[in-house]
Amino acid sequence: MKITILGLGYIGLPTAALIASKNIKVCGYDVNKEIVSSINKGKAHIREKNLDILLKKVVTKGYLKADTVLYESDIFLIAVPTPIKRNKEPDISFVKSAVKDICKVLKKNNTVILESTIPVGATQEIAKIISSERKDLRVPSSVGEKGDINISYCPERVLPGNILKELEMNDRVIGGINKKSTKISLAFYKSFVKGKCLETDNRTAELCKLVENSYRDANIAFANELSLISENLDIDVWNLIKLANHHPRVNILNPGPGVGGHCIAIDPWFIINSAPRQARLIKLSREINDQMPFKVVSKVKRSLKVNNLVAEDSTIACLGLSFKANIDDLRESPAVKVVNKLKSLNFKKMYLVEPNIKKLPSYLDENKFELVNFKSAVSKSNIVLLLVDHSEFRKNSLKKQEGKIIIDTRGIWASNHK
Ligand SMILES: NC(=O)c1ccc[n+]([C@@H]2O[C@H](COP(=O)([O-])OP(=O)(O)OC[C@H]3O[C@@H](n4cnc5c(N)ncnc54)[C@H](O)[C@@H]3O)[C@@H](O)[C@H]2O)c1
Repeated sequence: MKITILGLGYIGLPTAALIASKNIKVCGYDVNKEIVSSINKGKAHIREKNLDILLKKVVTKGYLKADTVLYESDIFLIAVPTPIKRNKEPDISFVKSAVKDICKVLKKNNTVILESTIPVGATQEIAKIISSERKDLRVPSSVGEKGDINISYCPERVLPGNILKELEMNDRVIGGINKKSTKISLAFYKSFVKGKCLETDNRTAELCKLVENSYRDANIAFANELSLISENLDIDVWNLIKLANHHPRVNILNPGPGVGGHCIAIDPWFIINSAPRQARLIKLSREINDQMPFKVVSKVKRSLKVNNLVAEDSTIACLGLSFKANIDDLRESPAVKVVNKLKSLNFKKMYLVEPNIKKLPSYLDENKFELVNFKSAVSKSNIVLLLVDHSEFRKNSLKKQEGKIIIDTRGIWASNHK
């Protein structure tokens, strides 16, 4: 059995390494030459717990090899990006391009599995592409059992920072385009997943993935809305939530500077796009979470004013850039949005602290920002803005620092957040 993983990023690379660790031959395919070359040296281009150790092992033993050329395989597993366009419509062009590449080497009895997050109906769209590119193969439709190949949608639901463990332990939803596709895909996942493998159809599996992240988004939006209400009513939101959560059936999440990452900030739009009239709560949640970075900037402006300060004479330390704690992923990060917006206030100096990266990405202007360590940023700044609850920041409480304005958007230090 030969497995090929298309797209060797945060999902594809750990998946490839995990499957290879079961002594199954895996070929990794990516369009990025640098990523391929780094993987073949046994070095991960992303930071993920235990990934470097596992990768080195499976590459050295010859179970995983990466390439920019796609070869024949038994199973093709697609884990390429699915961003949203400027108008918030899903962009599945990377998936379509990967499928067209697969069509060049696809054979009878092969299985194509989509793990990329996709809008409802996209698996069928992929089947149509295969059908038009490969007229020699019978492609199953949602109703037909007959088919020379198998196509399934099997979404990923891992937690960045704990991906390798969750890939193996989480339950999986497996939705084939027909029963045979589901059965074949189920057998594949059972070879490396210890969690339950739950069978369904492709459309239910597609919506299931989107619903999971929309659920998270709506719950975070509720917490964020509470933080705005509390601020308006001069009540400490962290204390409020702590007290409310003593109710046996209430479990409010923590507010923050917004929602980021490749999933929660993006996937709800796939539902909004498919059912705009029905997805009202989902859309409002997105809007509430998207406005949070602006609210943080307003809070900084208010703090300057209350303390009779002007930005041009002030230095600010912005703590954390990633979209959540203890990871290096800056995609859609609300912290990045906040620092970019603060730029226009013309601070004398803006120090950025992100312990999980070595240099600033090109979209963060090095003339405006300086990446420094926690101690240096805090000692040189009169405003400290905490944006991400990294462990390193939790360890260094600034609660009692004299003469500094501390704005803690994650509630890890201050007990009074007004
Ligand atoms: N990151 C997560 O935590 C997470 C969780 C669940 C689901 N997902 C979904 O998984 C998918 C992949 O996400 P990711 O975070 O791994 O993305 P990523 O950007 O980290 O990696 C994607 C990789 O695909 C490569 N690529 C792009 N086009 C390609 C093509 N045509 N052929 C081969 N390779 C190609 C890129 O070079 C890149 O290395 C997305 O749909 C995402 O929504 C991600």
